[in-house]
Amino acid sequence: MGRRMAGLIMAVATAAGVVGISSPARAADDAAGKAFFEAKIRPILAESCVGCHGSEKQKGGLRLDTREGLIAGGKDEGKVIKVIEPGDPAKSLIIEAVEYKNDDLAMPPPKKKVSQKLADDKIAALKEWVKMGAPYGEKAVEAVKK
Ligand code: HEC
Repeated sequence: MGRRMAGLIMAVATAAGVVGISSPARAADDAAGKAFFEAKIRPILAESCVGCHGSEKQKGGLRLDTREGLIAGGKDEGKVIKVIEPGDPAKSLIIEAVEYKNDDLAMPPPKKKVSQKLADDKIAALKEWVKMGAPYGEKAVEAVKK
């Protein structure tokens, strides 16, 4: 908590300001969520996740290019693997995966045993986004080809 939280709140408030939201509060929440997604989350998903979890490939049966895909979760031998508990990062597999805490599920996966762990600020942004209920923008996320 403390300064980092304050910073994130500022970022969201600023993002809401950029898209010109005043009231009502609910609409502002939605707009702030979308703005946060566009500014912080879309680039992470596009660069690091959707190449394997999007329209072309669905590793683990999971798509992360739309909110529907995220909520639908992954699949393992026909069984659904829930990957997010909206509002609760501590109960969300997607966060466990990016934190590289579990050797069996580290995302993005290590390449030739070299960790591909995201930078701390990106992991913090993903946690904040899950806390917000994982809002998406209008358009599906397209992978950035490397
Ligand atoms: C190089 C391909 C690749 C990339 C990039 C990738 N994943 Fe995965 N992901 C996989 C594979 C393969 C699995 C299936 C489980 C396994 O083999 O570890 C998986 C499984 C998962 C799962 C567990 C649910 C399931 O369906 O098995 C989550 C959550 C997940 N990925 C999230 C992410 C996130 C978030 C990112 C981006 C930060 C990401 N992945 C990037 C390949 C990838």
